[in-house]
Amino acid sequence: AEGAGGTAAGGAGLTALREAAAGCRGCPLHRDATQTVFGAGDAGARVLLVGEQPGDQEDRRGEPFVGPAGRVLTAALEEAGIDPDQTYVTNAVKHFKWAHEQGRGKRRIHRPPTLREMGACAPWLTAELALTEPEVLVVLGATAGKALFGSGFRVTRERGACTERTVHGRTEQVVPTIHPSAVLRAREGDREAVRGGLVADLRVAARRLG
Ligand code: URA
Repeated sequence: AEGAGGTAAGGAGLTALREAAAGCRGCPLHRDATQTVFGAGDAGARVLLVGEQPGDQEDRRGEPFVGPAGRVLTAALEEAGIDPDQTYVTNAVKHFKWAHEQGRGKRRIHRPPTLREMGACAPWLTAELALTEPEVLVVLGATAGKALFGSGFRVTRERGACTERTVHGRTEQVVPTIHPSAVLRAREGDREAVRGGLVADLRVAARRLG
């Protein structure tokens, strides 16, 4: 993420990558999804955030975190002192997942991606990391953590600490936290505490930037 040259090269690389990912047939999810939802944001970003998979609104609009979870995330970043415009945001899996239910056809409800789908999509994330070279990688939730570090990842155990970890062969400074949709799912009485926890974890990432 350093230097104007690096940024320009990263930007051109990301544009090419986005175009290639638009035609990805690496797993069956492309058949039902509206479009590939590739990462978005600043190629020179110091912070890269990885979510799970595009939701309904992301699938329709073609951009990550533009729905309710995205609004929670943007507000939490601002509160933690990280400018959302200076981040790069992407997902472990880049196609929306329709739920197929017997006798009911396909429905727009959430189903977490399988390990196989995460594995098929991993090369895109590896390439995004290589091109953006973030100083901090923020992992949003258990699914993103499992996609990056394997099925033993536990967000409750790992959240809120910055550790050096190997991600697809690269050494990264990693701060795991909860997925912003956990704030939306929390009971009303708990919501502010859950949101505060997300902000506190993001502050750990902010401090790492100095
Ligand atoms: N949830 C995610 O994990 N990613 C998005 O892009 C939107 C919602």
